[in-house]
Amino acid sequence: MKIKINENFKNIKESYLFSDIAKRVNEYKKLNPNADIVRLGIGDVTLSLPKLVVEAMEHATLEMGSKDTFRGYPPEYGYDFLKEAIKSYYKRNGFDIDMDSIFVSDGAKSDLGNIVDILGNNEIYIQNPVYPVYLDSNVMSGRHINYLECNEANNFKPTPIGLDNEPKVIYLCSPNNPTGATFNYEELKAWVDYAYETGSLIIYDSAYEAFIKDGSPKSIYTFEKAKYCAIEISSLSKMAGFTGVRCGYTIIPTEIEASNMSLNKLWKRRQATKFNGVSYPVQRAAEAALSEEGMKENLKNIDLYFKNTKLICDLLDKKNIFYSGGKNSPYIWLKCPNNMKSFDFFDYLLKEAGVVGTPGVGFGTAGEGYFRLTSFASYEDTLKAVNRLEKLL
Ligand code: MLT
Repeated sequence: MKIKINENFKNIKESYLFSDIAKRVNEYKKLNPNADIVRLGIGDVTLSLPKLVVEAMEHATLEMGSKDTFRGYPPEYGYDFLKEAIKSYYKRNGFDIDMDSIFVSDGAKSDLGNIVDILGNNEIYIQNPVYPVYLDSNVMSGRHINYLECNEANNFKPTPIGLDNEPKVIYLCSPNNPTGATFNYEELKAWVDYAYETGSLIIYDSAYEAFIKDGSPKSIYTFEKAKYCAIEISSLSKMAGFTGVRCGYTIIPTEIEASNMSLNKLWKRRQATKFNGVSYPVQRAAEAALSEEGMKENLKNIDLYFKNTKLICDLLDKKNIFYSGGKNSPYIWLKCPNNMKSFDFFDYLLKEAGVVGTPGVGFGTAGEGYFRLTSFASYEDTLKAVNRLEKLL
C-alpha cells in the first residue's frame, strides 16, 4: 500500500502492557501446561455483580424484547436516569454536579484515551510510573510528554513545586494506578491551585475513589476552582465490578473554557460524531449500582478485596519489603527484593511460585525495580499466592 500511516505509532511500545503480560503468561502456560498459576496482574475484578444490579439489567433486557418498551439508539451523552444517579451519587459524597456536565461512557479507559481529540498541541504532564493509557494516547497523537517523577522520596506523589507557569495538560490519578498513592486534601489542592493560576487543565482519573478509606478527597471537585480547570473521568469497573459490563462517566463542567470555547461543548460535538452511547440494559445496571442500596453492596465487595490486600500487606510487612498502596487502593506497589529488576522478578515469581504480577517498569522508567500486585483475585487464590510467596521471599 502507498498510503501514509500515523507515524506516531512508531513511538509507542509494540504491544499494550497488559496484552504483553498476558502473552508472556500464555507462552509460559504452553510450556508448562500443569502449572497452577495465580493471577494478581491485571486489575480485573472477580466478585460477581450484586443481585439488584443483575435484576436491573435483566429487566431492561426484557424491555428490549417487547414492542412497547423497546428502545433504539441511546442518547449520546447518557440517559437522564443514569445521569441523575451519578449526580445523586456525587451529592451523597458532598458534591453538586450539573446534569449537563455528565457524559456516560463505556468506561474510563475510552474517555481517557479519547479526550486528546478536543485538545490542541499542549505540553503533556504525566506521572512516572503511570497508567499507560495517558502516555500512549498522547504519543499516538504526537504530543510532547513531560514526566512528573514519583518515587519513595515523594511518597509517589508529585507536587507542582518547581514547575514553570506555562499552561499545560496534567494527568493525575488518585488513588493512583499503579502505586496506590493517594493525594490528601492539601496535596490535591496544590495541584488545583496551580492549574487554576496557570490556565492549565487537570485530567483527573478517579476510577479508584470508592477504595478511599482515610478521608482523602474522592473527587477533584472537592475544590471549587476545579470547576474551571479540571475534567474528572471515572468508571464503575472497579467500584461496582463492571469490567465486563462496561460503564463509566466523564464530568466536564460547563464553566471550563479554553480559546474562548467551552470544553463541554467540544466534547458533546466529539461524542455526537464518534460515539453512539452505552446500551440501555448497561445504563439501567449502572443506575442500580450507583443507588444507595447498590453502593452498599459494592462496598461489601470492596471490603472483601481489602481482605486480600491485608493478606498481601501483612506478608510484605513480615518480610520487611517496602511497599506503597494497599491502604486506599486495590494495588500494592512493592520494591523487588534484592534489587531485582521488575521483569526478572516477574519471571522469578512466575517460575518459582506460579504467581503473576505486573512489572513496575511496564508503567514507566521510574517503575524499574518495582512490582504491582492486585487484590482483585479471589480470597482463596490470594491466600494461595501469599503462602507460596511466604516460602519464596
Ligand atoms: C490495570 O490493571 O491497571 C487496570 O485493569 C487497567 C484498566 O483499568 O484498564
